[in-house]
Amino acid sequence: MKGIKIVATGKYLPRNIVSNNDFSEIVETSDEWISQRTGMKNRHLSSGEPTWLMGSLAAQDALSSGGIDPLDIDLILVTSVTSDYMTPSAACLVQAHIGAQNAICMDVNAACSGFVYALDMARRYLCFDDIRRVLIVSSETLSKITDYTDRASCVLFGDAAGACVVEAADSLYSSDLGSDGTKAQLLYCKNPFQVKHPFMKPELVPEYDEIISPETEFLYMDGREVYKFAVKALPKAIGAACEKAGIRVEDIDLIIPHQANIRIVETAARTLGVPMGKMYVNLEKYGNTSSACIPMCLDEISKGGLLKRGQTVAVVGFGAGVTYAAAIFKW
Ligand code: UT7
Repeated sequence: MKGIKIVATGKYLPRNIVSNNDFSEIVETSDEWISQRTGMKNRHLSSGEPTWLMGSLAAQDALSSGGIDPLDIDLILVTSVTSDYMTPSAACLVQAHIGAQNAICMDVNAACSGFVYALDMARRYLCFDDIRRVLIVSSETLSKITDYTDRASCVLFGDAAGACVVEAADSLYSSDLGSDGTKAQLLYCKNPFQVKHPFMKPELVPEYDEIISPETEFLYMDGREVYKFAVKALPKAIGAACEKAGIRVEDIDLIIPHQANIRIVETAARTLGVPMGKMYVNLEKYGNTSSACIPMCLDEISKGGLLKRGQTVAVVGFGAGVTYAAAIFKW
């Protein structure tokens, strides 16, 4: 089976740390509520560093820790819901900053599932001989789209970037990805640009239902419904990926879930019948950083020596779209 090997990891965290108590000064909340309902304590927030820069710094951290020449990168995939430019891609901006002139570059937007979608894409590219090394960068500046008057969502999100370099390996790999656009209204942020030009003819617009409501310029989330989706999607995707790989859930050494809420992780662990010790959690330090959560975890695991080569790892994300994705591979 053509599998993958993560050969280097990196991260970037803004230095500005915001605690639960800091939030109680701007909205009606408390450290107790946030800790008990989410498990979160702190998150890092950008003070202006753009998404592409955070991604570039995470990429440079990965390249230097793996001793990899940027010119040896064949493909750069950047995942983000908070890109600074509609065009060019964030991947091109990262490429220029790190000097990876030989890479082809593109962005992937699958919200909080973005990293696992990109990992699965990387693996498919690596099945062909002309792509030997893929740099995945997940960079999110959720503070740009967060409504800091909405206590139900603003306490959840943080800014961060994670990166990893992936190569092909002759080892186990399986994945289970899915999307359901009929649930788009559960979690969205509308593009502020709308059609407005001197030649408008509104009578020519076909009838359509607006996908999203209510109107808000910020990120909107139906927390309870997303929660219900997440606690089902997470174990389902892991189960399906195990089945495709011909392994049991018990055979996985470490599961790295999207870091949205400790209660989601605990419920998924119970459903899967795995101890919490096998679920990697760092959300108390960083909050939910969308697609950056999983590569940030991978970097901690890699630099902390928490896994040995050959152990079996599962990564699993879920989020807006709605989307979900799990991948199982050898460390
Ligand atoms: O990465 C994308 C995926 N996102 C997720 O997976 C998030 C999924 N959803 C969640 O994690 C949870 O639904 C939340 C953390 C967002 C909310 O937790 P909850 O236990 O579902 O709370 P709730 O929405 O049912 O609200 C319970 C109460 C409400 O008050 P009332 O109506 O019972 O009086 C809320 O207004 O808690 C209130 N509340 C808060 N109170 C203090 C909501 N947010 C806060 C807050 N501080 N920050």
